[in-house]
Amino acid sequence: MLIAIDGPAGAGKSTVARAVADALGFTYLDSGAMYRCVALAELRGAQDPLSCPIELGGGQVTLDGEDVTAAIRTPEVSELASQVAARPEVRGHLVALQRAMIRDGDYVAEGRDIGTVVAPDAELKVFLTASPEERARRRAAQTGAEAARVMREQQGRDTRDATREHSPLEPASDALRFDTTGLSVDEVAQEIVRLAQAVR
Ligand code: CDP
Repeated sequence: MLIAIDGPAGAGKSTVARAVADALGFTYLDSGAMYRCVALAELRGAQDPLSCPIELGGGQVTLDGEDVTAAIRTPEVSELASQVAARPEVRGHLVALQRAMIRDGDYVAEGRDIGTVVAPDAELKVFLTASPEERARRRAAQTGAEAARVMREQQGRDTRDATREHSPLEPASDALRFDTTGLSVDEVAQEIVRLAQAVR
């Protein structure tokens, strides 16, 4: 079974997806971490960023054999990730890897295009949103950055993600939409677990 969780930055995807995966005993796939890896490889001047092997698992992200779990979370990588994610050759490469990863077993996959492009046949599709202010507040609390700066950077990424030509951020027509403003992670995760058990 596959549960697809898509939505903009700070909507709660990662935390909710991890909690749902834990509750159901599914594997969690963070597709954004893969775009971040390509961005980091590019920032570091890799000749061919797409040929650098990416591994995800056990809460760790590895790029070319190096643990980059923390290194891919800087604001510079976030910014470049949303730029490289607009390039069709990057998307094609990562989407193929993601499809291969989720082929066998039960997954909770999160990103921007899981329900629309990576796995349009996912059994359950959820699109998480929250108000821009709440999303920036959450991200600032996570990273210790100033909320106003997070808000500015978030707006730039939101616009780029939503208006790009290839796989723009948009809910699948059959996705269930959740506005998580004012809700706790547990409340949202529990609702998704309940829905997953109902369709299983
Ligand atoms: O954690 P946050 O939601 O800020 O970002 P992320 O999920 O780690 O993704 C980083 C960037 O990768 C996003 O801004 C998107 O541009 C891109 N991305 C994408 O295009 N498609 C995905 N399935 C996942 C991420």
